[in-house]
Amino acid sequence: MVNRADIGVIGGSGFYSLLEDAEEIDVTTPYGPPSDSITVGRIGERTVAFVPRHGRGHTFPPHRIPYRANMWALRSLGVRQVLAPSAVGSLRPEIGPGALVIPDQLVDRTQGREQTYYDMGGAVHVSFSDPYCPSGRAAAVATARETGWDTVDGGTLVVVQGPRFSTRAESKWFSGAGWSIIGMTGHPEAVLARELALCYTTLALVTDHDAGVEAGEGVTHEEVLAFFAANVERMRALVAQVVEALPEQRGCPCGSALDGVELPIELP
Ligand code: ADE
Repeated sequence: MVNRADIGVIGGSGFYSLLEDAEEIDVTTPYGPPSDSITVGRIGERTVAFVPRHGRGHTFPPHRIPYRANMWALRSLGVRQVLAPSAVGSLRPEIGPGALVIPDQLVDRTQGREQTYYDMGGAVHVSFSDPYCPSGRAAAVATARETGWDTVDGGTLVVVQGPRFSTRAESKWFSGAGWSIIGMTGHPEAVLARELALCYTTLALVTDHDAGVEAGEGVTHEEVLAFFAANVERMRALVAQVVEALPEQRGCPCGSALDGVELPIELP
């Protein structure tokens, strides 16, 4: 039985069977409860904590996910590296459904989501020019390619507020800006990870072409869910392999994100 973990996975509920020797833990945080109880267990030699991003039964829509509580809870269990599998739409004709994108940039188009831990007691301005962990990205790209996955190394994820999908005009605007993929949950997850000096890597499974890319009806929720469900087993296997490929000692800059900064709160 394990009740601490080095690696966190925030993903869909199809990921439960990822872990061996699993135990469920109810974690409390200063930001309220996380999306659900956290399952802690092992993958090979690595200890892993899993948070179902939307809660069991998909309780939380993207704009209501308790992002601060989720990331805080993971850190309080000892997690320092986070993998974030998610479903995204493609903004590029050449990136089709089934591709895996490991983005290296992010654009925040969300509104009104709590996106900092440093709200009071003094300003903390973390660097966020490169929002993703370089070591986590390298491990994800190499592992996915070894398994034969059609993998895109890099690209920009635009995170929209949702819960609606984008209009064709919005979608064309995003693709015209050169961005690659579109989703609803990648932010503020990424910045909150940085504010806690955690490594954060997105593994984005393309489930559809967004409205501006293809003529037709545009994307539907059913389409996204069905595509993700059809690929969840493959994604789960990949995430397990990436967990084992993550470096045991962090050599990336993520762990130093708060060096020399006077924090107004104590981190768990
Ligand atoms: N998640 C999956 N597909 C999406 C899309 N087209 N837009 C926003 N979020 C998505």
